[in-house]
Amino acid sequence: MNERDSEAVAAQLVAKGYSMTADALTADVILLNTCSVRDAAEQKALGKMSHVAGQLRSKNRKAVLGFMGCMAQSRGRELIDKLPDVDLVVGTQKFHRTADHIGDLLAGRAVGVVDTGEEKGSEATIREHLLNGASDKKSVTSFVSIMQGCNQFCTFCIVPYTRGRERSRSIDDIVSECRELVNRGVREVTLLGQIVTSYGRREIGERDGKSAFVQLIEAVHGIDGLDRIRFTSPHPKGYGDDLIEAYGRLAKLCESAHIPVQSGSDAMLKRMHRGYTRERFLEIVGKLRAVRQGIGVTTDIIVGFPGETEEEFEATMSLCREVQFDNAFVFKYSTRRDTPAAAMENQLPRELIEQRHAMVLAAIDEMGARRYERFVGKTMEVLVEGPSRRNAARMEGRTRCNKIVVFDGGNRFRGELMELKITRNGSFTLYGDPAIVNLN
Ligand code: 5AD
Ligand code: SF4
Repeated sequence: MNERDSEAVAAQLVAKGYSMTADALTADVILLNTCSVRDAAEQKALGKMSHVAGQLRSKNRKAVLGFMGCMAQSRGRELIDKLPDVDLVVGTQKFHRTADHIGDLLAGRAVGVVDTGEEKGSEATIREHLLNGASDKKSVTSFVSIMQGCNQFCTFCIVPYTRGRERSRSIDDIVSECRELVNRGVREVTLLGQIVTSYGRREIGERDGKSAFVQLIEAVHGIDGLDRIRFTSPHPKGYGDDLIEAYGRLAKLCESAHIPVQSGSDAMLKRMHRGYTRERFLEIVGKLRAVRQGIGVTTDIIVGFPGETEEEFEATMSLCREVQFDNAFVFKYSTRRDTPAAAMENQLPRELIEQRHAMVLAAIDEMGARRYERFVGKTMEVLVEGPSRRNAARMEGRTRCNKIVVFDGGNRFRGELMELKITRNGSFTLYGDPAIVNLN
């Protein structure tokens, strides 16, 4: 989400004649997009900004320094009070105003701009793309923001406060953005939002037993030249039979699902205000696996939520064993101000949270290795995104079930859909045979 917002702001600035630089210290404008989901991310952003400000001062250089995103939204002017070198604070509904504010600051028409209000229609403003900008990977696969905000109010989560209530773009608007992307060479889109399965609930509603989200997927599916559709992040409560059935019917919908579970204990899920049970979650995974063989299932897990007992923690461990996730993001509970969980009794000691975090990670690593091993010897369709992140001499892409595959090959393969034979597996990575059969 943040990456997508940053890309849209960068594209906005490039369209106004600015150019990107890899070296922050030579820049005239330095913007930090900030995440507030966990406290560590906020501390990192504050540390980075004060480091950059110090370096600029020591070089006697002046640049416009700005915070954007969730932390900008939740802290507002406090950020300028805390770090007086900061000139600009842009909230989550104001990304599209960034270039104008920078213009005013550079021209001396304004000082210390804080723009964090609500804005009607802001959900439709994240639409510019930098397809050949900072990373050439973006030209074959692209994120498309379909909605903003969340009404779920999980008791640990700051997002409903920093991103506001759910607001969805229209199907036509999203389809036309996807179409433009396809015309520019994109073959895979990931529909993006804080809770995408709630897309258009108020604005569009159900039709013929299909949720607005499924209607949107169908509309995007109809775009010629688009090969793959993904989405993130959904909520388990959004996996009605209409969405499950869509997996059986819509070939471009990739067989991978990132479904945040957070906990395997019903009592915890209730305290978290998640709105489903362990049994319901297991039922969803079972139905998805029945309708789409080989579907990759990943999740988010929080350990150390207030009051998490040994038994509740064990329920999360056993859920992981039962589901056999392909991968999971495992988070240590982080207290966020103004959330209901921050005021709950029985906040767990740090060491216990660390210990439980390590236990879940070890289990996920072990099951991941086993699941990745199963692909060795198989031939899989890979969309080649660009040079490998770890070794630029190699190329990498993703399977439909969202596994990274690295193989020897040149940049000419970028953007190609290929069949690669998997020769071995590493840690959450597959390695493919360069003896390739091109699908096109
Ligand atoms: N502490 C730890 N993890 C959190 N997440 C959200 N809020 C918190 C928090 N306060 C995690 C959830 C969510 C993911 C994006 O971040 O697992 O799915
Ligand atoms: Fe946060 Fe996701 Fe819960 Fe919304 S559904 S409150 S974004 S964790």
